[in-house]
Amino acid sequence: MASPLSSLGTRVAYGATQLPRIAWYVGHNAVMRRLSEAARRSEDGGARPRPHTDAAVPDRNRLYADMANLFRQDLANVESGIYPLPADHDGSLPMLLNRSRLFFADLPEIHRRRESGENRQVLSGETLGKRPGYYLQNFHFQSGGWMTRDSARRYDTQVEVLLHGTANATRRQALPPLHEVFAGRDQRRLRLLDVGCGTGRALDCIKQAWPRLPSLGIDMSEAYVAEAKRHLRRWGWIDLMVANAEAVPLENESQDAVTASFLFHELPPKVRRIVFRELARVLKRGGRLVVVDSLQIGDEPDYDGMLELFPQNYHEPYYVGYLKEDFGAIAGACGLKHIRDVKAFVSKVMVFDKL
Ligand SMILES: C[S@@+](CC[C@H](N)C(=O)[O-])C[C@H]1O[C@@H](n2cnc3c(N)ncnc32)[C@H](O)[C@@H]1O
Repeated sequence: MASPLSSLGTRVAYGATQLPRIAWYVGHNAVMRRLSEAARRSEDGGARPRPHTDAAVPDRNRLYADMANLFRQDLANVESGIYPLPADHDGSLPMLLNRSRLFFADLPEIHRRRESGENRQVLSGETLGKRPGYYLQNFHFQSGGWMTRDSARRYDTQVEVLLHGTANATRRQALPPLHEVFAGRDQRRLRLLDVGCGTGRALDCIKQAWPRLPSLGIDMSEAYVAEAKRHLRRWGWIDLMVANAEAVPLENESQDAVTASFLFHELPPKVRRIVFRELARVLKRGGRLVVVDSLQIGDEPDYDGMLELFPQNYHEPYYVGYLKEDFGAIAGACGLKHIRDVKAFVSKVMVFDKL
């Protein structure tokens, strides 16, 4: 058992890394909102109707209380030995500042697209036919969609700002269900696949807990995979590959665990089902799938209005469908058993086992 002193040390170290990080991203969020409001006012309200919902929207106190619960859970996981004190690997101060500059530089373009509804700028002679149509969009109204190096370098700041600095802590909530199936086993003999790995932040969290776990990350974006390779170069036993989750380039029943964070709300309903089938196919019997993604309608009724507002502010073409998707049924249709959901602030962790 940890001594009271070492536990105090862990808490101090956790606070010393997480609190400035939260302040950084919450601060970015506040500035972003002010800029966006000012831009709207200067355009006399803009052409677009104001986002609207009749459902409940949590107030600031409720949001901060739930954020605090997420960080308390994160710390509890550290204290119970599920993973070590987390390192977010955000980079040096010059790198952080450069990412901040890239983030703010894209806001006017995002605002312009939001007001005009333009979301297909990614579609060009160069990209057409190289990726499925659903993929070639300016998700979140961001410049470059998933397709450019600058988009890949901006992405993590955008997500952390949107989630008030909780994105990595949320991704780490996939680790306790992995710990349940990995505990007591030789990590070098296990296999893990992370699907839609993006810039590799979820894999970074996983490798901190199991540095010698052979892991593969796949993503359909060359630029994001390149960024993931850069970000994850400190780790061995890891592969990254450009691939479509609809056709995972792995043998049947070859993986002990599969993870996917913030992927499923970006996929059309038909594709969600195809990808689920693929993940079930590559999992070994007894293997575990852990999905981290947004809350859905009814998970936390006080949040329903906020979930409804999100796709009115950001280009999220499949999010409304996602909010009511029955993942238990999708999983059941491909031989996966829904074990449980665990809420994590505005997200949740869905756990499935292959029977
Ligand atoms: C919202 S990002 C999530 C990235 C990362 N998992 C995270 O935790 O931030 C969605 C990612 O899914 C990828 N993606 C979308 N559709 C895909 C598909 N069919 N196959 C593989 N990757 C896909 C995108 O390129 C993007 O990197």
